[in-house]
Amino acid sequence: MSESIADKYPNYSPGLEGVIAGISAISDIDSDRSSLQYRGYDVHDLAENGSYEECAYLLLHKKLPSVSELAEFKSVIAVEREVPSYIFEILAAMPKNTHPMDLVRTAYSALAPSDPDYTKPSTDHDANIRKAVRIVAKASTIVGNAHRIRNGLAPLKPNPNHGIAENFLALFSGKDPEPKTVQVMDASLCLYAEHGFNASTFANRVTVATLSDLYSGVVSGIGTLRGPLHGGANEEAMHMILEIGEPSNAQAWIDDALATKKKIMGFGHREYKKGDSRAFYMTKVAKELGVEAGITKYGEIADILEKTMLERKNIYPNVDFPSAYAYYLLGIPIDLYTPLFVVARLAGYTAHAIEQLDNNRLIRPTAIYDGLRNLEYVPISQR
Ligand SMILES: CC(C)(COP(=O)(O)OP(=O)(O)OC[C@H]1O[C@@H](n2cnc3c(N)ncnc32)[C@H](O)[C@@H]1OP(=O)(O)O)[C@@H](O)C(=O)NCCC(=O)NCCS
Repeated sequence: MSESIADKYPNYSPGLEGVIAGISAISDIDSDRSSLQYRGYDVHDLAENGSYEECAYLLLHKKLPSVSELAEFKSVIAVEREVPSYIFEILAAMPKNTHPMDLVRTAYSALAPSDPDYTKPSTDHDANIRKAVRIVAKASTIVGNAHRIRNGLAPLKPNPNHGIAENFLALFSGKDPEPKTVQVMDASLCLYAEHGFNASTFANRVTVATLSDLYSGVVSGIGTLRGPLHGGANEEAMHMILEIGEPSNAQAWIDDALATKKKIMGFGHREYKKGDSRAFYMTKVAKELGVEAGITKYGEIADILEKTMLERKNIYPNVDFPSAYAYYLLGIPIDLYTPLFVVARLAGYTAHAIEQLDNNRLIRPTAIYDGLRNLEYVPISQR
């Protein structure tokens, strides 16, 4: 019998599971209590009583804002929300079938040189805070207008009176959104804003730790978020719910999926093994939306999947599962779900990039070599 990897290399942790890869004061995931705090504040208090802007301020400035600090922060965001027109020209030149995640990643790559602090050293803390605010501010304009551009519509100017959630909704739909829609979107952005050393935040930190810049970090983060094992799970979860279609199909569907060892998107989490508290909260919100719209079938399908996953696999849903059908009920196109995750997570990426650069050391792990050694080189003519 061949030796298992675990027996052969007992010090190696596949997927870096459980490996401590840094020290951070940005967010605390308590898996036993299924809780998440941003700089000491429970994320649900922030989502229910605050706003995404307040979360972003807290993540970047390490404290909750006063009334005047928040007003100032919002007014800077309203100015910085404008996106140079060349960005939209680049997006318009991309193939029509481009996924919006690729549009957003490209937009951030192209934005870097237009930042007024472009040439500042990557360790300039104050310049990095200004860059972070610009990066966060522009996201909802980029995602909303990327959607317009791919549908052959002209990009719109953001309304300076809108918050970040409202700006996305107004640009994407071309009309002023309902207050309830804005409230749900804003709360979901709060919940998605930050989550420790997840794959994309870690990729972002690895990038800036070479003394590269915040935009490069964000581009790495967006590319990493795109995959279905990470941010892309919210889109995959909705495709799955639509494939199931009706609650009456759900039990047979999940039985078959488990029998054929399918990964159920929107379930499971590397850190939370007793449930993701953000999922409990979003489930409540999504179900309320369903009742208000008179469309309760997605919540009913979700209940069957959740019950079965818990009974058979002891696996809970993560935030992407209820967010998927909440966004669907809000009328958001499925391929904008992961870009919306970007809109939110940019606050976390930039806070982490600044934390890394303020006390930097190159991130360069090592690998066990498990290949051949000392082979004799044979000239190509003799092979
Ligand atoms: C998030 C995720 C990647 C965490 O992965 P991880 O910590 O590496 O855990 P693993 O993938 O090794 O899973 C451990 C076990 O649980 C099972 N499992 C985990 N998530 C599962 C899921 N969503 N559906 C079915 N089985 C799952 C695995 O098959 C594995 O079982 P095994 O030991 O019998 O092989 C994983 O749960 C997953 O792929 N979920 C679906 C994608 C998703 O929703 N991602 C968003 C995360 S916020």
